[in-house]
Amino acid sequence: MAVREILRMGDPRLLEKAQVVSRVPSEALNGLVEDMLDTMAARNGAGLAAPQIGEPWRVVVFGIDRNPRYPEAEPVPLTILVNPKIEVLEAATEDDWEGCLSVPGLRGLVPRAKRIRYRGLDPVGDEIVREAAGFHARVVQHEVDHLDGILYPQRMRDPTRFGFTEELEAAGMIPTVRGD
Ligand code: NI
Repeated sequence: MAVREILRMGDPRLLEKAQVVSRVPSEALNGLVEDMLDTMAARNGAGLAAPQIGEPWRVVVFGIDRNPRYPEAEPVPLTILVNPKIEVLEAATEDDWEGCLSVPGLRGLVPRAKRIRYRGLDPVGDEIVREAAGFHARVVQHEVDHLDGILYPQRMRDPTRFGFTEELEAAGMIPTVRGD
């Protein structure tokens, strides 16, 4: 187990499409998942995708239980998803502020589908199928985007709704958060 370095925006590896994990379960997968969970916890992240630690595989982890970086978000169960797929159930989008451990110190207003169904494998190989809305749906869409080489600034519609967390807090645009 290890807390790994997180790649930051500008690193070309964050723009690559990640590969399907063909063998589940496996020891390599377990080691990767352990490092991802350690790294996410150490940085108070709501989610993390394998490419963010330089591993080009379709694996994401997410979950929040009152996260200081997202004080107003509802809890999301801690989930490990291998080879995730998203189906949009409600095409209407809603805007909300997002941050990303690969884009430290910044927040942007991002439109996301309101309601989705997602599926994937857990590390043991059992299928997970869930419907999600609100912040839960947002986190999953954000993390799965990482697997396709997409960072949230690429999803923004209004570049004026993008800035440093501290300045946005001072302007009353976002609630006060801790961390980056
Ligand atoms: Ni991210």
